[in-house]
Amino acid sequence: MASRKNGRRGVHVVGWGKAVPARVLTNDDLAALVDTSDEWIRQRTGILERRIAGEGETTFSLSLKAAQAALEVADQDPARLDLIIVSTVTPDHAFPSTACLLQDALGAEHAAAFDLSAGCSGFVYGLSLAADLLGGGSYEHALVIGAETLSRITDYDDRNTCVLFGDGAGAVVLRANEAPGGVLSSVLGADGSGGELLRLPAGGSALPASAETVAARQHFIQMEGRPVFRFATRVMPEATREVLKRAGGLSVEDVALFVPHQANDRILQAAAKGLGVPEQRLYSNLARYGNTSSASIPIALCEAIEQGLVRRDDLIVCVGFGAGLTWAAAAIRWSLPLPVPTPSRRMTVWRWLRYRWAQYRSSWRRLWRRVDARLFHILYDPEGRRKRKLVKTRDQEAENQGAGDEPSGD
Ligand code: ACO
Repeated sequence: MASRKNGRRGVHVVGWGKAVPARVLTNDDLAALVDTSDEWIRQRTGILERRIAGEGETTFSLSLKAAQAALEVADQDPARLDLIIVSTVTPDHAFPSTACLLQDALGAEHAAAFDLSAGCSGFVYGLSLAADLLGGGSYEHALVIGAETLSRITDYDDRNTCVLFGDGAGAVVLRANEAPGGVLSSVLGADGSGGELLRLPAGGSALPASAETVAARQHFIQMEGRPVFRFATRVMPEATREVLKRAGGLSVEDVALFVPHQANDRILQAAAKGLGVPEQRLYSNLARYGNTSSASIPIALCEAIEQGLVRRDDLIVCVGFGAGLTWAAAAIRWSLPLPVPTPSRRMTVWRWLRYRWAQYRSSWRRLWRRVDARLFHILYDPEGRRKRKLVKTRDQEAENQGAGDEPSGD
């Protein structure tokens, strides 16, 4: 386990935002697809409905909306971001990273950007990493996102998994300064021996995409639910206690609100029991969104704040588990007065202009790269140019010859 050391600059959550697709998939909709029922799903998971990405909606597009909302709350100029981390197991592409697509779209010209894969624990992994980098003085402003389009890797013929997952994105803006509070500690853990319990078999270097892998439905999530369930109920209370200890000997009683990964209502009940707290202290929006993997904790945190469940000086614990297997927890002393003031109109307009400018900048850079390649050949690669011209002339001659040799057909 790795932990964030205290005694550094405070790293504070100053912005938050979420984005979920408009399309709702209800339990009854699923019952029309597989052998299941609304009653079974409600009783065994607590999920009533989930959001599913529409055509053209991707992990990137959801991330962008969540990021813009978080930047708005933080009243932050994207150009001043130093770091963008997107946690996802459903990136738009293996590469370029979703974080780089976002960096370009936001006009975050000075930001380092990368994706992180740690299953449903990913957002807390990203939060911990960013807090360490900001707390240690490397950076000032970071954007951490959890975003997924799990519907794209869910097998809607498999009732064991398809009832669980949904799509969405949540984002936070972190800022470092000397004020006390913010991210106090974190706990990150992994047990790769449980990797096969929750996996996407094909599409990587072990089993590249082929007609056979597609036919065998190996590009969909495969899960052994029961062992994952047992793992989750054990690790959530353990990681929570550990992160509180590392935050300076705090206890479960000090926590105002737990923001757990939203996987199954029965896991939340077991975690509450394991911690010895009433279930109401664990925030839940599982019924409306299902399990959105990396996105579940930031979406839940965002909604908890919007619903007035977070106050200044509250101690909050975010705790998750997921594919890998992984687990992660972070203790946050909420340092921002709420509600936040409405962002200045000047900065809102500035951000709007910044996003438009980012679009033009991106198009211009793509065009310039083409022009640059042309100029390079003309100016710096005359030998290559001569050879290409020679080949072209020979091809032309061969073509002309071929045309001359063709039987006339008379
Ligand atoms: N509808 C009806 N019956 C079902 C369904 C369904 N959707 N799914 C399973 N069943 C059946 C099973 O086939 C089984 O039938 P059988 O007894 O005849 O074999 C029966 O219900 C019980 O199955 P269990 O697997 O024991 O059901 P359980 O109560 O464990 O619930 C569940 C299954 C919901 C998947 C649970 O195990 C769970 O939530 N596990 C954790 C999943 C999780 O959190 N995953 C994290 C993903 S994180 C990430 O990184 C993406």
